[in-house]
Amino acid sequence: MPISPDVREAVRQGSWIRKMFEEGARLKAERGPDNVFDFSLGNPYGEPPETLSEKIRSLASAPPADLHRYMPNAGFPDVRAKVADALARSTGLPFTGDHLIMTTGAAGALNVALRAILSPGDEVLVIAPYFVEYLFYVRNVGGVPIVAESAENFQLDMASIRAALSDRTKAVILNTPNNPTGAVYPRDDLLTLDGLLAEREKRTNAPIYVLSDEPYRKIVFPGFSFFPPAAALRNTLVAYSHSKDLNVPGERIGYLAVSPRAADAGEVSDACVFCNRVLGFVNAPSLMQRAVAVAQDLAPDLSVYQANRDALVATLRAAGFPVVPPGGAFYLFPRSPSGNEMEFVEAAREENILVVPGRGFGREGHFRIAFCVSPETVMSSLPAWERLGGRYFPRQNQGETR
Ligand SMILES: Cc1ncc(COP(=O)(O)O)c(C=O)c1O
Repeated sequence: MPISPDVREAVRQGSWIRKMFEEGARLKAERGPDNVFDFSLGNPYGEPPETLSEKIRSLASAPPADLHRYMPNAGFPDVRAKVADALARSTGLPFTGDHLIMTTGAAGALNVALRAILSPGDEVLVIAPYFVEYLFYVRNVGGVPIVAESAENFQLDMASIRAALSDRTKAVILNTPNNPTGAVYPRDDLLTLDGLLAEREKRTNAPIYVLSDEPYRKIVFPGFSFFPPAAALRNTLVAYSHSKDLNVPGERIGYLAVSPRAADAGEVSDACVFCNRVLGFVNAPSLMQRAVAVAQDLAPDLSVYQANRDALVATLRAAGFPVVPPGGAFYLFPRSPSGNEMEFVEAAREENILVVPGRGFGREGHFRIAFCVSPETVMSSLPAWERLGGRYFPRQNQGETR
C-alpha cells in the first residue's frame, strides 16, 4: 500500500464541508452563481480592513531590510511583543513576546501545540459537535481523540466531560465561540471546568493542557460576551487566527500563546518553537506577521453577520425549524427536521441551498449553516428556506400555533 492506512481512510471518507463546497461550485456552474445559496464553508465573504490592506501595500512597495528573510522561528520579536501586549490587555494575564509563537493560522498553532505536548497514546478530549479537523490534528501525532458531548443547548456538559477524562488525558480542546454551534462559554463554566481538571491532575500529578481555539473571539453578538479561557483555566495554550477577524484565511497567519500561568510555561514555549520549525512551517509568513502587528486592536465589522444571523434565525423559526441563536462566530446548527439529516441536506439542495450535515461535526441529526456570506445571498435565500420549512412543518406555514 503506497500510503498510510489512516490517511487512506481519511481521504476515502473525505470532509463533508469540502464535499458540500465542491457541490456548490458545481451547482453554481450549472445554475448560475446567483441561483445557488452556498452556506457550506466558513470563508468570510468580506475584504480585509483597509488598515491591513494599506499596511500590506506599504510593506510590499517599501519592504524593510529583513522582510523576506528568515527570522527567529517564533516570529519577529517586535511583532510578538505587540501581539502579547494586546493579549495581555484582553485577558488580564502578563503575556510577553516570550509566550508568543506566530503560526500559520490556528491550524498551525494547534498542530504545533499537540506535537509539543503529546506522546503516542495520550488522550485529547474534544467536545461534540466539533471542528472535525481536531480529530486529524490529534491523530497526526499519535494521540487519541476522546469525544465528550455538549448539552442540548451546546454549552459544556460537565458530566460528559468528567466521564471522558482518564489518567491518559493530556489535553482538552475548547472552542469558544464555537464552530459549528455559535456557543459562547460563560466564565463560571470555564472555572468549573478548571476545577474538574484540577481534580484529575491531583490523581495523576500531571498537568492537563487546555488548547483554547479562539478564531472567532472577536465575532460575538450583542447580549453575549467572550470570556477568555486563559483567564479561567490555568494550563491554557491559546490558538488564534486572523482568518476570520481580518478576512485573510488564505494568508495563513495566527499565533499560539502559552499562558504565563501554565505549568512549565517556559519549557512548553520552547518546545512549541521547536515544533513550529520541525513540522516544516519554520516560521509564519513574514509579510503577514508584520501586517497583522498593526491590526491587533481592530474590531471586525459585525453588522453584516448580525443582519444575516437575525434574518436566518427569524425565517427558520417562523418556518418551524428549532434553532438555538448563536452567541458568536458565524454558524447556525439547527436540528434537522428529518431524523436522517442526509435526507434533509438533499432536500435543501433541491432548493439550491447548500448546508453541511451534522455528522461532519460529530453530531448527526443537525445541519450547519455558515452565514459568513453576502447579505444578498441571505436575503435571496429566504423564500427557499420558507419553502423548505413548508415541506416539513406545514402547519406553521399556514399560520397555526402548536
Ligand atoms: C474552530 C476552528 N478552528 C480552527 C480553524 C482553522 O483556522 P485557520 O484558518 O486559522 O487555520 C477553523 C477554520 O475554519 C475553525 O473554524
